[in-house]
Amino acid sequence: MKKTILITGGAGFIGSHVVRLFVNKYPDYKIVNLDALTYAGNLENLKDIDRKPNYVFEKGDINDTDFVNKLFRKYKFDGVIHLAAESHVDRSIADPGAFINTNIIGTVNLLNAARLLWKDDFSDKRFYHISTDEVYGSLGNTGFFTENTAYDPRSPYSASKASSDHLVRAYFHTYKLPSVISNCSNNYGPNQFPEKLIPLAINNIINNKPIPIYGKGENVRDWLYVIDHAAAIDLVFHEGKSGETYNIGGNNEWRNIDLIKKLCETADAKLSRKPGTSAKLITFVKDRAGHDMRYAIDSSKIQNELGWKPSLDFEEGLEKTLDWYLQNKDWMKRITDGSYQKYYEEQYQKR
Ligand code: NAD
Ligand code: TYD
Repeated sequence: MKKTILITGGAGFIGSHVVRLFVNKYPDYKIVNLDALTYAGNLENLKDIDRKPNYVFEKGDINDTDFVNKLFRKYKFDGVIHLAAESHVDRSIADPGAFINTNIIGTVNLLNAARLLWKDDFSDKRFYHISTDEVYGSLGNTGFFTENTAYDPRSPYSASKASSDHLVRAYFHTYKLPSVISNCSNNYGPNQFPEKLIPLAINNIINNKPIPIYGKGENVRDWLYVIDHAAAIDLVFHEGKSGETYNIGGNNEWRNIDLIKKLCETADAKLSRKPGTSAKLITFVKDRAGHDMRYAIDSSKIQNELGWKPSLDFEEGLEKTLDWYLQNKDWMKRITDGSYQKYYEEQYQKR
């Protein structure tokens, strides 16, 4: 094998797409997927590739220092692509503790293990940290986040991700650990856990349940199809410059209410419902605490320097996403049985 790469969080939404891309595209890389299989991790996401000879799964927690160090000694990784995280803002508001542990301490454990293994000989090594545009805070009606926008995280989730970004940069500056960071906008697509807006709305549309829209639905997000994010991650991992940050975004801003109306319209056509049927499910509920108004990414750096651009327009991406959920109702059913019900009741009954 030419390289051994650790991908953390590979059983999650984005991680599973990155693992699939790397396993299929680089048969001469050994891909080790480390995942704790929290509520968000699901090995079913990888069943099409899990028997490939260049793929290994390791169940474990990035918060467990001994386990992480042993894993690095066992595989002698050449590179790390770090996606494991607690990723949902609403959960971070309800209970920040796990976010501090996994997103901050877990990241430091990986940074330390990489230093220890590589013994400060960093030739051909790379530590790639996957982050979010939410570290930059909230925009008004105009402007975009660039790589130079000052950090201003406003939720426990974004504060924990900002903290991990700072630590990765600190290891680059202090120890010269060859690291790179990307900050991406909201992803959507197959395999996303139905706590996030789009899959939650799809699940409720299919089951004729109310679609909860926080506040007035005026908050704006910039949506990117997950496969396009995975392609950007491939590019940054191989061609990004050490010490640099790359913003990744869809150039695709939608107010939540407009996005959900569009989704309802698309769903009506696919489910042979009378136009307007699904939109009747839209229900405005109590706003999220500290709800960031607008995120919008300026991705000109990755576009100009690395030649990346989104491949799908939003209509196409939304159709593909809806088709996937309609064809994978069992996936959704298995996920929404059990503990999901408890989460849903706690989050939405009080709104
Ligand atoms: P996800 O919640 O779907 O998946 C996270 C994965 O990490 C799960 O498989 C989970 O089991 C694993 N994990 C959690 N805690 C762990 C621990 N302590 N040890 C080992 N594994 C653990 O998240 P996602 O949406 O795929 O996001 C992946 C990464 O991308 C995160 O770092 C997130 O901050 C970042 N990101 C996400 C988005 C988005 O829109 N989803 C946008 C930008 C950046
Ligand atoms: P989400 O998918 O949780 O991503 P993030 O908070 O990381 O951007 O939410 C996207 C937007 O949708 C955000 O403005 C909050 C809103 N939202 C709702 O209106 N209703 C919901 O049930 C959820 C989960 C989110």
